[in-house]
Amino acid sequence: MDFLEWANGPWGQNIPIHIAWFLIWVAVISGFLFFIVHATYLRYFAKPKEFVTSGSSLIAARIPEHIPRHSLTARLFHWIMAASMFTLLLTAFLPKVGFRFGWVTYHWIAGSVLTVSVLFHIIHASFFMDFWSIWPDKIDVRDARRRILRFMGMAAPPPDKFAKYPLENKLYHAAIIAAGLSAIVTGVFMMFRVRTIFFPRNPYLFGDMTWGMMYVLHGLAGVGLIALIMVHIYFGFRPEKRPITKSMIFGWMSRDFYLKEHDPRRWPVEVPSSSTAPKGVEPQGLRDAS
Ligand code: HEM
Repeated sequence: MDFLEWANGPWGQNIPIHIAWFLIWVAVISGFLFFIVHATYLRYFAKPKEFVTSGSSLIAARIPEHIPRHSLTARLFHWIMAASMFTLLLTAFLPKVGFRFGWVTYHWIAGSVLTVSVLFHIIHASFFMDFWSIWPDKIDVRDARRRILRFMGMAAPPPDKFAKYPLENKLYHAAIIAAGLSAIVTGVFMMFRVRTIFFPRNPYLFGDMTWGMMYVLHGLAGVGLIALIMVHIYFGFRPEKRPITKSMIFGWMSRDFYLKEHDPRRWPVEVPSSSTAPKGVEPQGLRDAS
C-alpha cells in the first residue's frame, strides 16, 4: 500500500505526483469514527464539567444579557471562509471519487477567495482583535494537566473556567492554520500550472521533484482539512456547543452560558451603559473589577 502516486521522470527516476486518493476515505472514516467515539463517551462515561468557583456575585450581577463575542467583520470572514473551504473540498475531491466535471477553474477561484480572506483575517486579528486570545496561555497548560489527572481518577483541583476560547478550540485553530496555510501556499504556486487571470502560466517555475512534493503537500493538507472540517461541523451541531455556533451567526452569547463556562477575569466584558446592571452598580468594563 503506497500513500503516494509516482511517475517516472525524464531520467527514469521515481517522482511523486500526488497523494494516493484512498486517503480521502481514510480522512472521512476517521471523521466518522471521531463522532462515534466522542458521542459515546459524552453519553455514557463523561462526568459533568467542574470548574473552580470563580468571580464574585457582584461581577455576575454586572454582566449584561448579551455578551458580544464576534464582530460583524469576524463573522463575515468566518462564513466567507467556510463557503470557499466547502467549494474547495467539493471541487477537489468529488472528481477523485467518480463525479467528473471541469473542476479546476472553480477550484482556483475559491482558492483565491480563501487566500484573500485569510490574509484579511491575519491583518484583522493582528491589529484590530485580541491577537493572544486564540493561543494557549499558562492557565490553559496548568488546567490541561489538571483535567488529565482528574480524567485518570487522580486527585487534582478543578480547572478554572475558560477565557474567551477553551484550550480545545485553540488547538483546533492551530491545526487549521497548519493545514490551511499549507494548502494556500502550495495552491498559490500551483496556480502557475493552470491558466488563471493573475499571472502567465509557467509550469517550468520548479523542477519535477519540487512540483511533485508541492502536489503531495497540497493533497495531504486537503485530506487533513476533510477530517478537521468534519469535526468542526460535528461540534457546531452538538447541543452543548450550540450557543457558540449561534454566536457566530448573531454575534453574541447569553449571559447564562458565559457565566457557566467563562471566567470574567480571563475574558472581561465591556458592559454597555444600557446594560441590565442592577441599580446602584455603576456599569463599566469588568477588566478592573476582579
Ligand atoms: C480546502 C482547501 C483545499 C483543498 C482541500 C484542495 C485540494 C486540492 C486537490 C486534492 C487538488 C488535486 C491535486 C492533485 O491532483 O494532486 C488540488 C489542485 C489544485 N489546487 Fe487546491 N485545495 C485547497 C486549497 C487551494 C487553494 C487555497 C488554492 C489556491 C490559492 C488551490 C489551488 C489549486 C490549483 C491551482 C490546483 C490545480 C493544479 C493542477 O491541476 O495542476 N487549492 N487542490
